[in-house]
Order: sequence, then structure tokens, then C-alpha cells
Amino acid sequence: MPFAEDRGRRIHYRDTGGAGPPVVLIHGFPLNSTLWRPQEEALGDRYRLILPDLMGFGKSNVPDDPSEYSVDGFARNVLTVMDDAGLNRAVVGGLSMGGYVVFALWRLARERLAAMILADTRAEPDDEAAKARRTAQQERLRAEGTSKLIDETPAALMSDVTRERKPDVVAGAQATMDNPVAGWIGALEAMKRRPDSTADLSSIDVPALILTGELDPLTPPSVARSMHEQIGGSRLVVVPDAGHFSNIESAPHFSGAVAEFLAEAA
Ligand code: MLT
Repeated sequence: MPFAEDRGRRIHYRDTGGAGPPVVLIHGFPLNSTLWRPQEEALGDRYRLILPDLMGFGKSNVPDDPSEYSVDGFARNVLTVMDDAGLNRAVVGGLSMGGYVVFALWRLARERLAAMILADTRAEPDDEAAKARRTAQQERLRAEGTSKLIDETPAALMSDVTRERKPDVVAGAQATMDNPVAGWIGALEAMKRRPDSTADLSSIDVPALILTGELDPLTPPSVARSMHEQIGGSRLVVVPDAGHFSNIESAPHFSGAVAEFLAEAA
């Protein structure tokens, strides 16, 4: 089980060791690297998938102080994982908060990105209302821990189709949310303070695949379409029947679109 060390913190990652080109996939909030299980199964032999647990999640270290968390810090976690895995350059993808980290990587170290995958994410920062919602969530987490929010998240973010027809996928998502409360609070802080990435979109000149769930309430197809219009030459895939966790809600469709993209871009 490999760990990289970033500024004194241990960052865990999984490495499928596949024969093909390297692909780093960054999980969203409040998830961990096991989010990518379906892609590991579908693509892990053909590509070397590197799946980090961002600081605060999965098996990585969990600092208590929320001010230690930032999207740039998460991007540095990913760069140290790439160093540890011996990767100078890779295709890098992220879902939702993982996408915010991909934008940070583009600003910090674009020479290390061979192509990018942006799933269920957006370039805009939080507005004041979104920041206030995150602060309220942090207060709830301090008072009651994570379990009620884990119960509530599927109804808030996953599609009706998933919730009605794929109870195992819902249960799997909830298991992936079982991360330390300090990680949740820290990541909310990081997302509140994340910078605006919209001005970066037109500078992206590597192959880019944008995916979003057809029924994603947080980053709907209109948001993905706007990124697609601003990233020259990008490809847009709307994932049928899926909500915000499109890679697990409609896993075969998502993995198929990624495989098609990688066959050309990696
Ligand atoms: C995520 O899925 O990573 C988060 O819900 C994104 C966000 O809250 O902005």
C-alpha cells in the first residue's frame, strides 16, 4: 500500500499497475479513492491508474486544523503522489472537488498534465450563499459528526434513477463517505476558499474530456456545456441517468467514455 510524503503528511494512494499510460484520478467530497472502483475494474489493467486519497480522506493523514486544507494543498498532495509513483506526466482527472484540484494543478504544474478529465465539476468559485451553506455544514459536523450527512447525501446529490434502481450503488457511495470528520470540515474550508478558475479555461491546451450526470443537481449539463465552450477542442459527454456521482451512478457509460478518450489522448 503506497504512501507519499507531503510536507510531513502521509498521503495514501492506490496503483493498479496496469500496462498502459498513467492516469491519475482524484476523488470528490466527501469521498475517497474507493470512489473509482468501477473504473479500476474497467480500466485498471489497460492503464496505470493512480488513485490518491486527498489529505483528510481514506487512509491519508487527517490534520485537525481546517486552515491546513486548500485546493492548492490537495494539488501538492497529487504532485507528491506522482513523484512517488515515478510519474513526470500523466492524464489527470477529478470529480467535483477533484476537478477543483485539477484546475489548481493546471495553475501550479501544467507541464505535468498530458490531458485532463473534468467530471461533475465547475470552474466558478463559491458565491456568498454557497460559503454560508458550507459554514453551516461545518457547524453541523462539529455538533453531530458525519452520519446524518451521510444519510442525507444520496437524496441531495444522486439521481432518482440511481436511488430507485441501484441501492447497491447508493450503499457503496455511502461507504465511500465514511471519512474522518476533520477531513470533511477541512475540505469544506478548502472549497470555500478556492479561487475562480474561469479565466484559466481558455488556456487549457491539452486534450480535455468533460463529463457530467444528466441529472446532476450541483453541476448540471449547462455548467459542463459552458466549460466545454471555453476549453478549445474539449469533448463533452452527458452521462445518462446519473446525478452528481456520475462515475458510479452510470459506471459503464462513464468508463466507456473515458476509455474512448484515453485511446486517443493518452
Ligand atoms: C463534491 O462532490 O466534491 C462536492 O460536492 C463539490 C462541492 O460541494 O462543491
